[in-house]
Amino acid sequence: MKSVPLHSRLTTLLLKSFTIILFFAFSISSYSQDVDAARQTEGRKLFKSLCTSCHKLDKKLVGPALGKVEERRENDWLKSWIKNNAEFQKVNADAAEAAEFDTSAMTAFPQLSDKQIDDILYYTTVGDPPKPGVVNEIGAGASTGSDGSPKWLIYILAAAIIVAFLIIASLLKTISELKGAPKTPGAIASLGEVWEGFKQNTFLKVLCTIFGLLIGAYVLFGTLFKVGVDEGYMPLQEIAFSHKIHAGDNKIDCQYCHSSAKHSKTSGIPSVNVCMNCHKNISEVSEDTKVEWDGVTYGKAELDKEIEKVYAAAGWDAEELEYTGVEKPIKWIRVHNLPDFVYFNHSQHVTVAGLKCQKCHGPVEEMDEMRQFSPLTMGWCIDCHKDTKVDLKDNEYYAKIHKELAKKYNVDQVTIAQLGGKECGKCHY
Ligand code: HEC
Ligand code: HEC
Ligand code: HEC
Ligand code: HEC
Ligand code: HEC
Ligand code: HEC
Repeated sequence: MKSVPLHSRLTTLLLKSFTIILFFAFSISSYSQDVDAARQTEGRKLFKSLCTSCHKLDKKLVGPALGKVEERRENDWLKSWIKNNAEFQKVNADAAEAAEFDTSAMTAFPQLSDKQIDDILYYTTVGDPPKPGVVNEIGAGASTGSDGSPKWLIYILAAAIIVAFLIIASLLKTISELKGAPKTPGAIASLGEVWEGFKQNTFLKVLCTIFGLLIGAYVLFGTLFKVGVDEGYMPLQEIAFSHKIHAGDNKIDCQYCHSSAKHSKTSGIPSVNVCMNCHKNISEVSEDTKVEWDGVTYGKAELDKEIEKVYAAAGWDAEELEYTGVEKPIKWIRVHNLPDFVYFNHSQHVTVAGLKCQKCHGPVEEMDEMRQFSPLTMGWCIDCHKDTKVDLKDNEYYAKIHKELAKKYNVDQVTIAQLGGKECGKCHY
């Protein structure tokens, strides 16, 4: 029987195992894609301040969607185009072809350096940084997770890869020990040997189990860490609506917009009709109005465009001053979100307890971008119930219960907790 020299079979085997592991590592590495955060931030900032008025990454706006534009165009082409597309179109037929919307030619950006353009392009390729939290669209109720997996996950992956190498090493050792055994010729030979080696080596089985567990843990935690709502959670809304401008500078009462807080379980988000009560007449902001949005300062030019988005949503034709009937509801992204098994009632806290919105939501009138101020954990609810005394003002119903409870607990004033604010059933369905 002729047999292929051992060292060449070992090499083939090593290469094969290597390929398999690399393939494995790559196919799951999407969980921990390495992103150069500094370039991403830089590019994003530039993109948001210069390009967002006409471009989005994923949708056509005034100009085409720019997500992954580098897959469509050469880097040099893009640089020339962005610096001065009108000039470029004169010398480049391909560029002239790109000008499908010829009335809305793109602004020239001769001031941008090559590095800045590269950063912008980098951003169009990698997209936005991950935000922790479940993103829930109010109304639509759809939920999408974004990648917020912690750093240590990568160590699990590294451990899995090390174990994989141990597996190979161990396999090679077993096979070379087997070299006296009879062999079948051809490519099957090495596979057969792998199996034979595997069967004989318990250590190898243990290694494979560990490998499986590590990969399992990696995938599981990678998925789990994409869910969970965070304090400070601040999703980017599609309209740069500022509470500071509305509730702060213009002193509009919270309940003018969140009118159901007083009477019902939820506060609700105002419909676009509420916006139009004012914005039919307010199509522009004043000269010096500024909003900090996603790390960029929006001035009058940008903010007037934001009001145009309100018109688009309401189907309002600002030239003819009439509704066109073509509406496009605003999809506000939900910021606060308790799990479904918790019962929380706004009117109980706002109307009955007389709490100010700010007690739980923080200084909303100073926020350009809405964010979650309190942790909304069970401990947070209970701490307040433990410390807050029942407000007896003009409340006969409480006065009576209060007298009885005060006697029972032997205190002057009972707390919400003593009133029942610590009973599981009050907060859990
Ligand atoms: C005033 C609106 C406007 C602004 C601002 C703007 N663009 Fe454009 N852009 C366009 C339009 C419109 C097109 C489509 C081509 C045309 O008709 O000129 C376009 C096309 C492009 C293209 C070509 C895409 C392709 O696939 O052919 C690139 C790349 C591009 N823009 C990048 C940028 C970048 C980067 C910025 C910010 C620095 C920016 N644009 C700012 C309006 C704009
Ligand atoms: C002019 C209308 C208007 C006024 C006035 C207003 N809001 Fe809002 N509020 C909105 C809109 C629109 C949203 C949804 C967009 C967002 O989250 O920024 C919102 C969102 C919120 C949210 C987050 C809801 C979520 O998604 O979890 C809170 C909390 C909130 N408002 C509290 C307040 C408080 C407190 C005040 C008064 C200080 C106030 N609002 C005044 C229109 C208004
Ligand atoms: C009670 C009147 C009133 C209501 C209701 C109102 N706005 Fe405004 N809004 C204003 C005023 C006044 C300004 C201009 C402020 C300035 O000029 O500095 C403004 C400015 C804006 C701006 C530009 C400044 C910013 O916040 O980014 C946007 C966008 C806007 N409103 C969106 C909305 C949306 C969306 C709604 C409905 C949820 C709404 N407004 C409801 C009065 C109102
Ligand atoms: C005792 C604390 C507390 C007070 C006071 C309070 N909120 Fe809330 N608010 C919450 C919690 C908790 C949620 C999350 C509710 C959920 O997910 O079911 C929330 C959610 C909201 C939302 C999101 C939509 C909704 O209804 O779930 C808005 C808007 C809101 N609050 C506005 C207000 C306004 C306006 C006031 C004052 C009139 C106010 N809140 C007072 C705790 C409070
Ligand atoms: C800032 C203080 C504060 C926070 C935070 C708070 N509450 Fe309350 N809660 C009160 C007060 C005050 C009352 C009493 C209202 C009344 O007089 O009936 C109350 C009453 C209640 C009641 C009715 C209790 C009863 O015996 O009738 C429930 C249920 C409740 N809260 C749930 C919650 C939940 C769920 C959360 C957290 C998501 C929460 N609360 C957070 C202050 C708070
Ligand atoms: C004042 C309101 C309130 C009371 C009373 C309350 N809970 Fe909760 N509970 C909550 C809230 C809010 C959450 C959601 C916490 C989160 O999402 O982080 C929660 C979450 C939970 C969870 C899920 C695990 C977790 O931490 O997220 C369990 C289990 C639970 N509560 C059990 C109980 C039991 C048992 C009692 C009675 C001893 C009780 N709760 C009393 C408000 C309350």
